[in-house]
Amino acid sequence: MGPTMDVASVQRAYRRWAPVYDLTFGRIAEAGRLHAVEIINRRKGSVLEVGVGTGLSLPRYAEHLQITGVDLSPDMLGKAQERVEEKGLSNVVGLYEMDAGALAFEDESFDTVVAMYVMTVVPDPELVMAELERVCAPGGEVLLVNHFSEEEGVRGWIERKMEPLAATLGWRPVFPVDRVLGSAGLRLAEKRSLRPAGLFTMLRFVKQPELVADRKIKHDVVGAMPSYKPAEARG
Ligand SMILES: C[S@@+](CC[C@H](N)C(=O)[O-])C[C@H]1O[C@@H](n2cnc3c(N)ncnc32)[C@H](O)[C@@H]1O
Repeated sequence: MGPTMDVASVQRAYRRWAPVYDLTFGRIAEAGRLHAVEIINRRKGSVLEVGVGTGLSLPRYAEHLQITGVDLSPDMLGKAQERVEEKGLSNVVGLYEMDAGALAFEDESFDTVVAMYVMTVVPDPELVMAELERVCAPGGEVLLVNHFSEEEGVRGWIERKMEPLAATLGWRPVFPVDRVLGSAGLRLAEKRSLRPAGLFTMLRFVKQPELVADRKIKHDVVGAMPSYKPAEARG
């Protein structure tokens, strides 16, 4: 599963990244960010951006939305806060230091939840997906923009070679898409390959709590079936 990306190592990595982020990775990842924000701007209500980083997306959100951002790195968040003040972004209603795996928000608090280039960084992506689902309102949307690794080909080979650098890079080069597809109440509505060169993917999910209920009924029915007993036990 690769190296552990605990809180301390994420904060250390992003303390180093914060001063140069906007001009390096921040720039490479611009197309994916613009794409996700464009989709979100067609929606209404509240938005939670998880792993908001230096807040590169913040000036792009439409004024009619109320944006909350969270991040684990105080250094990245500090940059985001400066940006909000410099640009007078009145639609940004809060920026908080918070772990994506333990969000301090009530269930169903946001109409849209987005995490861009974050899932490869968190220690437990399945837990984070469960949190994104939990805080999203029924009928709301969860968007991810991420790099997902390939098992085969040159890219897959490079990703496997880079894996030992994960703690230094601050993200995991080997990260199959399956790791974010297991949330019972999230239906995958759209999957799009993004520039540069399909390196990143946008996934858009719709939260449908009835899917969880359907799955539970199936489990209950299977669980309720009488178990097979061999003939001698049946008497
Ligand atoms: C590659 S940056 C992406 C930043 C921003 N979303 C963007 O598009 O530029 C990853 C961000 O995720 C944050 N992060 C990593 N682990 C986190 C966690 N468990 N909870 C919240 N934020 C986390 C990092 O501090 C960093 O700011």
